Amino acid sequence: MPVPSNPVTPATTPVTFPPAFLWGAATSAYQIEGAVREGGRTPSIWDTFSHTPGKTIGGDTGDIAVDHYHRYREDVALMAELGLNAYRFSVSWPRVQPTGRGPAVQVGLDFYRRLVDELLEHGIKPAITLYHWDLPQELEDAGGWPERETALRFAEYAHIVGEALGDRVEHWITLNEPWCSAFLGYASGVHAPGRTDHAASLRAAHHLNLAHGLGTQALRSVLPSRNQIAVSLNSSVVRPLSQTPEDLAAVRRIDDLANGVFHGPMLHGAYPQTLLESTSSLTDWSFVLDGDLNAIHQPLDALGLNYYTPTLVSAADPNDKGPRADGHGTSEHSPWPAAEDVAFHQTPGDRTEMGWTIDPTGLHELLMRYTREAPGLPLYITENGAAYDDKPDADGQVHDPERIAYLHGHLSAVRRAITDGADVRGYFLWSLMDNFEWAYGYSKRFGAVYVDYATLARTPKSSAKWYGKAARTGSLPE
Ligand code: NOJ
Repeated sequence: MPVPSNPVTPATTPVTFPPAFLWGAATSAYQIEGAVREGGRTPSIWDTFSHTPGKTIGGDTGDIAVDHYHRYREDVALMAELGLNAYRFSVSWPRVQPTGRGPAVQVGLDFYRRLVDELLEHGIKPAITLYHWDLPQELEDAGGWPERETALRFAEYAHIVGEALGDRVEHWITLNEPWCSAFLGYASGVHAPGRTDHAASLRAAHHLNLAHGLGTQALRSVLPSRNQIAVSLNSSVVRPLSQTPEDLAAVRRIDDLANGVFHGPMLHGAYPQTLLESTSSLTDWSFVLDGDLNAIHQPLDALGLNYYTPTLVSAADPNDKGPRADGHGTSEHSPWPAAEDVAFHQTPGDRTEMGWTIDPTGLHELLMRYTREAPGLPLYITENGAAYDDKPDADGQVHDPERIAYLHGHLSAVRRAITDGADVRGYFLWSLMDNFEWAYGYSKRFGAVYVDYATLARTPKSSAKWYGKAARTGSLPE
């Protein structure tokens, strides 16, 4: 007699997270605030850049953005309603210290104090990013990140904000994605300030590192000791097209320029020797002064990682002198100094509206790498998310099943990493709501909350409800 097959399919075990896990969303000042001329705020490099014809899609600017400056109460209420317990936002440097130097503007600080109070009243933990790309224009006019002075000014600004908000904000992030500031800002020029000078981009990287180190010291001097200081890196998961020595050398080259150039000095107190050698035709690194590496190598309380997609590279065909696709917008200028012999490829698989391949295994790989690279350092995913061409349906609801699938896949990868030993303490979805996506303007929607740009009305997409349920239950809804 045939044995009857078991008609009962085993129940899938729910993917659950540790009880103290932070379930947050992230934004940044220039992308959401608007009100660019209020309260004594002066232009940042992004005001100048977005107002320069041809720099952003449709000539879009952050002048109004999603008007969060005036609607922050509504936005906090929305987060609370969804069930989030953390919110990562950035402070606009030119709102607090308009020329990038000198005394703080009280009105600017007061805005963030009100925002923080509102969050705390709703039981949401604020996580402050001090620098999310909006350098005061006056500091760029004085030379910007390629100049050492900018790092010194950043430390002063960090001190001001730390002193003003340290009593009520526990989570601090010095810089967001310094790779973008240095290499998209000063090498490929697709981001503000739009310069295309490879040697200057390496100087910028060093001074961003120095800003992180000096800023961390400044924060330590004013923050209560229970506070946590971190940095958010968009560390790349770099994979070879094949296992040939040439392709593996290409991985090394890009890993140094994407990751080692920042985590080397920040976590280990040194630049990778291979980076110094591969860039020697551009610079002798003499801008690294005695004591800088010690200043940068500060003990941290956590590391923030922003992850979207892996990077696939090979050795370049020496006859191919065409522009290098690298997933960061097109430009005839490469963001990768001294890497002309590296070619970039599209990772196979489905892609988001940014053209970025969806690959949650990369997030697991990244978390395991930093578990080895920085043993004992708590990790946070400070950004992860996807852009889709969301549209309200006839009844005004916005259904975004692709984003739910993306979040499910990536949060499951985080959970697997925790099981495998990674100390991941929280996850911040990029982004709370649709906003100004830099050079792409408003053409790419990353939000869990839909924004109608004509009325500025906010509508939670189905992913926001899904994510809110995950936050409230500590496990992933099916
Ligand atoms: C990285 C940046 O930190 C954020 O500002 C940007 O909008 C997202 N990634 C998506 O590109």
